[in-house]
Amino acid sequence: GGAVAERTISCLRGRQAAEGVATVLAIATAVPPTEFLQSEYPDFLFRVCNCDAKIALKDKFRRICEKTEIRKRNIFLTEEVLKANPSICFPDAGHSLRDRQEVAAVQVPKLAQEAAVKAIKEWGRPKSDITHVVFGTTCGIHMPGADLQFSKLMGLETTVKRVMMYQIGCNGGAAVVRVAKDLAENNKGARVLVVCSEGTALGFVPPNESKPEELVETALFGDGAACVIVGADPIPKVERSLFELLWAGECFIPETDKAVYGNFTEVGMEFHLTRKVPFLISENIAKLLNQARKIVNNPNWNDMFWAIHGGGPAILKKIETALQLAPHKLAATREVLREYGNVYSGSCLFALDQIRLRSLAMDASTTGESCEYGFLCAFGPGVTIDALLLRSVPTSTNYFGDD
Ligand code: CAA
Repeated sequence: GGAVAERTISCLRGRQAAEGVATVLAIATAVPPTEFLQSEYPDFLFRVCNCDAKIALKDKFRRICEKTEIRKRNIFLTEEVLKANPSICFPDAGHSLRDRQEVAAVQVPKLAQEAAVKAIKEWGRPKSDITHVVFGTTCGIHMPGADLQFSKLMGLETTVKRVMMYQIGCNGGAAVVRVAKDLAENNKGARVLVVCSEGTALGFVPPNESKPEELVETALFGDGAACVIVGADPIPKVERSLFELLWAGECFIPETDKAVYGNFTEVGMEFHLTRKVPFLISENIAKLLNQARKIVNNPNWNDMFWAIHGGGPAILKKIETALQLAPHKLAATREVLREYGNVYSGSCLFALDQIRLRSLAMDASTTGESCEYGFLCAFGPGVTIDALLLRSVPTSTNYFGDD
C-alpha cells in the first residue's frame, strides 16, 4: 500500500529532474527604433513638457545628463506618442495611469517578442519546444499579464507554463534567471524562455523643481527587452551552451525599504531614489557574492567576468572601489549603460550578451572574456541584490565551433 506509493513517487521525482545544471542556450536583445542622444534629451524633454521657461531646472537636468556616461537611449515615448497621449506629459490632462497602461500593454509584449524571435533563431529549435515562460517587467500591470500576451504573439503552445514577475525592479534581470534555473533543473527536458521587457511609459515624469531625484531617473532610464533561453542537458550538435548557471542567490539589505521604491498612483509609477543607493550596494555586494565564490575555490574578483546592472555610474564606481576591480572588468556593463541607458531589469542581460560578443571579437578562450567563472548580478528595490554564479564555455570546443 503506502510503501509502494512512496516508491512510485520517489521514482517519479527522480525521472522528473534533469541531470545537469541549467545552462544559457541563447541570448538576444531588442530596443525601440527611436534613438535619443543624451546631449539632445534636455531640449526635447523641456520642450514637450512646456517647461522651457524653467531655465535653472533645465540646466540642472543637463548637468545630470552629462554625468550619466550615457551617449544615447532608445525610448518608445517619441514626440508623436506623447502628443497622442497628452496625459503622460501633463498628468492633469486626463487619465494618466490608464493612458500609460495602454501604451505598456502593447509595447511591453511587442518588444519582448522582438528579442525572443532572435533568441529562438540562435537556439535553433522550434518554438513549440518551449515548455516554460518566465516574464519580468516593471512597466505596467495587467490581468491576464504580459506573459500571456507575449505567449500569444509568439505563437507558443497553449500548454506553455508561465511565471509572471511584475514589479521586481532592476534586480529582476537576475531574479528571472534564478527562477528559470530552478525550473530547468527540476523538470527534465524543460526549455525556459526568459524575458525582461522594460520601458519608461509608466515612470516618465515631467520636470518638477520639488522632486530633483526624478530628474536623475529621467536622465538614466531607457527602454529595452532581453531574452535568454535556459535548459539543462543540451542536446549534442543541436543546442550549444553559452554559460552554465552554477549557483543563484538573493539578499535584501535590512532597513533600506525607502532607498529605492515605487508606487502606482493616478499619474503612473512614482519612483523614489535616495543618494545612499551606490553606498548601500557597494557595502553589501561582496557578502552575497562570496557565498558563491567559495564554491569554486575563491577566484580573485579580477579573474572573473562581470555582467552587472548598470544602475548609474556612481554605483559602478563604488563597486569597482569596494571589490578593487580593474578598470576593464566592467567594460561590458559600461558599454550597455553608454548605448542604452539603464534598461531596468534588462540591463544585466544586455551586459551578458555583450560579454559573449566581446569574447568573440577579442578571440578569447572562453565565452566569459577568457575567464572561467563570472557573475550575473543586479540590484533594485528592497534594497535587493540578486546574483548568479556562471561558468563560461571554452570557445574552441563548443560555442563558436562549427561542429
Ligand atoms: N537625488 C537627487 N539629486 C541628485 C541625486 C539623487 N539621487 N544624485 C545626484 N543628484 C544631483 C546633484 O545634487 C547634482 O545637482 P546640482 O548640479 O544642482 O548640484 C547633480 O545631480 C549632479 O550630481 P553630481 O555632480 O554629484 O554628479 P555625479 O557624478 O554624482 O553623477 C549621477 C550624477 C549620474 C546621478 C550619479 O550620482 C549616479 O550614478 N547615481 C546613482 C543613480 C542611481 O541610484 N541609480 C539606480 C537607479 S534604481 C535602479 O536601477 C534599480 C531599479 O529597481 C529601478
